[in-house]
Amino acid sequence: MSGGALRIALLGSTGSIGRQTLDVVEEAGPDRFRVVSLAAGRDAATLSAQVARHRPAAVALADRSARSQLDLPPGTRHEEGPDALVALATDPAVDLVVVATGGTVSLRPVLAALTAGKVVAMANKETLVCGGHLVMPLAVRRAAEVAARDRSDPMASPLAWVRPIDSEHSAIWQCLAGERMAEVARLILTASGGPFRERPVETMDRITVAEALGHPTWSMGAKITVDSATMMNKGLEVIEASRLYALPLDAVDVLIHPQSIVHSLVEFVDGSVKAQLGLPDMRIPIQYSLTWPHRTPGPAPRLDLAERNSLTFAVPDDARFPLLPIARAAGAAGPRASTALIAADEVAVERFLAGALRYPGIARLVGSAVERFGSGGDPSLEEVMALDDAVRAWAAGADENGRVAA
Ligand SMILES: NC(=O)c1ccc[n+]([C@@H]2O[C@H](COP(=O)([O-])OP(=O)(O)OC[C@H]3O[C@@H](n4cnc5c(N)ncnc54)[C@H](OP(=O)(O)O)[C@@H]3O)[C@@H](O)[C@H]2O)c1
Repeated sequence: MSGGALRIALLGSTGSIGRQTLDVVEEAGPDRFRVVSLAAGRDAATLSAQVARHRPAAVALADRSARSQLDLPPGTRHEEGPDALVALATDPAVDLVVVATGGTVSLRPVLAALTAGKVVAMANKETLVCGGHLVMPLAVRRAAEVAARDRSDPMASPLAWVRPIDSEHSAIWQCLAGERMAEVARLILTASGGPFRERPVETMDRITVAEALGHPTWSMGAKITVDSATMMNKGLEVIEASRLYALPLDAVDVLIHPQSIVHSLVEFVDGSVKAQLGLPDMRIPIQYSLTWPHRTPGPAPRLDLAERNSLTFAVPDDARFPLLPIARAAGAAGPRASTALIAADEVAVERFLAGALRYPGIARLVGSAVERFGSGGDPSLEEVMALDDAVRAWAAGADENGRVAA
């Protein structure tokens, strides 16, 4: 990494995490961070406005039909073709790749970036959930290379190469600073419990899209907001934590914490517990991933604990949140099952948001996909992508209750 400004490729710049990453970059100024490239799916107008502001050297817009609306100044090139994200992620002018896309589209670019010696700051959970067995060995190898030269170099840690942005995993990473993994007893991920934490279970088949999108504490994209309501999000995070921190799934617990102030906790073998607290604002973990191992002033508002009269915690109810045990089972079954979990959930949430699938159908469809596609050994990158396609094609045939004809 160069001694000057950190040079960033931002994949998924027009989304919720992408926009907040640019807030952090802008607040810190060009001496600290420089945006080398931006990539988005189809939102040409937002991408054009970001280009005008940040003047990246390159952009990629995945949707061909939207490209005519892309307004690029001289000096900004458009990266074409199926390898566009890989090209941005491996550009010699880039130090760090922020992965703020949804789904599995960034798995290949992440593998290419680590192979090319780039640091990856990862908001996206899906990449580690279905491809953690491919991603983490590369991070371990990079860290080992640094350790062979100098054990005391902060980059001699796999987490220096794959840096979590997800607030829970960032919280754990912050709690682990200066600690030894061998002395960790368990991780405790907190969950807000979403809008249905207290809803009578017998009325859950009548949940509407508007209700599912009404997250009580976090403001996020539509897909992840529905995943928070079902707690699929937490299920993915349990698997993500197990992959990132190389711990067994049963060493990762979940507690509902409706105030979303304690972002996660680590319990050590001596019974001591460390937690990381803050207001629910993703700019804090985004910034930490960029400034690590240092901290700098940032744009997020401050937590005033004196204003909080209680912080509460409860064990989640599997009957209310069936996707949580389904995700744990998929995590235990291995990367094929977790790939099926993610692909089926994407189809299910898309259909739910479009009014074509009832709320309980989400868990039914995802559970069936894990059972149908979840066995077998660790898949290669090509097998992960082929399985993703196969599960999506199968799940597209689901009825409004999430049942797929044999
Ligand atoms: N939002 C949060 O607070 C939060 C918190 C923790 C973790 N995460 C995780 O972070 C990831 C992003 O979440 P989000 O809420 O920011 O999602 P989002 O708002 O839906 O944004 C997704 C981004 O990916 C872009 N994209 C889609 N397809 C693409 C492609 N083929 N090539 C390049 N870019 C593409 C989208 O572009 P267009 O807008 O142009 O379609 C958009 O910029 C997810 O994995 C989520 O689980 C999010």
